[in-house]
Amino acid sequence: MTALQEKAKDVLINNWREKFTIPCANLYPFQWKWDSGFIAIGLSYFDIEKAKIELNTLLDAQWGNGFIPHIVFHTDNDSYFPGAKFHRSDLHPLASKTHKSTGMTQPPVLGFVLEKMYQIAANKNEFLSYIESVIDKVYFNHEYFYNNRDPKNEGLVYIYHNWESGTDNSPIWDDIWETMNPPEYEFERRDTTHVDASERPSKREYDHYLHIIEIAKKHNYDDVKIAKHSPFLIQDPLFNAMLIKSNESLINLYKLIGNNLAKIQQLENWQVKAKNSFNAKLFDENIGAYSHYDLRNEKLLPYLSSSSFSPIFANIPDQNRANQMVETMLQKFGNENQYLCASFDPTHQRFNPKKYWRGPVWINLNWILYNGLKNYEFDAIAQRVKSDTIAIIEKNGFYEYFDSRKEKHETGAAGYGGNDFSWSAALLIDMLEN
Ligand code: DGY
Repeated sequence: MTALQEKAKDVLINNWREKFTIPCANLYPFQWKWDSGFIAIGLSYFDIEKAKIELNTLLDAQWGNGFIPHIVFHTDNDSYFPGAKFHRSDLHPLASKTHKSTGMTQPPVLGFVLEKMYQIAANKNEFLSYIESVIDKVYFNHEYFYNNRDPKNEGLVYIYHNWESGTDNSPIWDDIWETMNPPEYEFERRDTTHVDASERPSKREYDHYLHIIEIAKKHNYDDVKIAKHSPFLIQDPLFNAMLIKSNESLINLYKLIGNNLAKIQQLENWQVKAKNSFNAKLFDENIGAYSHYDLRNEKLLPYLSSSSFSPIFANIPDQNRANQMVETMLQKFGNENQYLCASFDPTHQRFNPKKYWRGPVWINLNWILYNGLKNYEFDAIAQRVKSDTIAIIEKNGFYEYFDSRKEKHETGAAGYGGNDFSWSAALLIDMLEN
């Protein structure tokens, strides 16, 4: 391991809490779903047993219908809002009886995480037996999505909350907030006691976030009712690309295990349908990449974000389309004064390079894009994403997100949000191995 990888390893060791890893101290004191997946990849390089425990702990919180929640509240820590008492997962009849959680999910990364861990594992046979012990739970989770989150039977699943997207306060959601008028909730934010408020979502944005949860709670987190009543109902290209990539990995892993022909067939059917609909519905010729579809208001939301390029990670576009996407990426995000890849279009008036998902560079999206660019043999640009990722971490530390403007990095103060952030460390370890 290089010196930087050793530092990354220390971040992961310090953020370990008996059976799972927190994303970072104070700001995020519980277990987050997609964080856990990325973290398990990093852990696999130096302690694969811990990586297995990380995933087992998350899967222990799976609901009786296959759903896996976005946060599992393992402790009563009150340094985070909204906590278990607000989310009330117990309202859903099939929620876990042993684990308190939210009633929403996050991008389905576990399939491709398991495949990646298999590639890292020194003892493949032993690791394959581990996969056998958990893979059906991940399959069950995909079945949940296709059976409950795809009301038009298109092969594309919806998210009903911006926190499900993982890109929490993206400017894309501003269009949805314009269709809502939530009450002014009274609550005590905790995030802004840990981190500068200019780097976090606004109070009014939180009113919208809480209001959608109140609507879902009123319907006891029933998917059919949420699909009918949630003002936020989006087919998100990042979320669906993660699901499609995970389908592909599950197919590969079931083939390694042997048998399981019915499941492989089902996964292949989902894949064909999902990729066709994805290409027909989510590609936006006007912007030269994929965008989000607003299922509530039946229209594409015509914005470029780092999510717009994520389908290259899941082999969704053909080569021509991939060429077009990379051209768009370089033109809009790849100016020589910008690090790749800003989370939102740097040429757009809603761009803010300091504020969470409204512009900063995120390491997990860079990791997704780096691997996607390699899939299509855009080796030079992949290399640029990798060296930009290493540079911003070397200059600033293992922050949660980073200013995309190069000039801001001269003083080493361009890392924002939480510090010693687990997935920044975990995915850097992996990138440096490649
Ligand atoms: C937060 O609280 O900002 C989290 O990202 C929600 O998942």
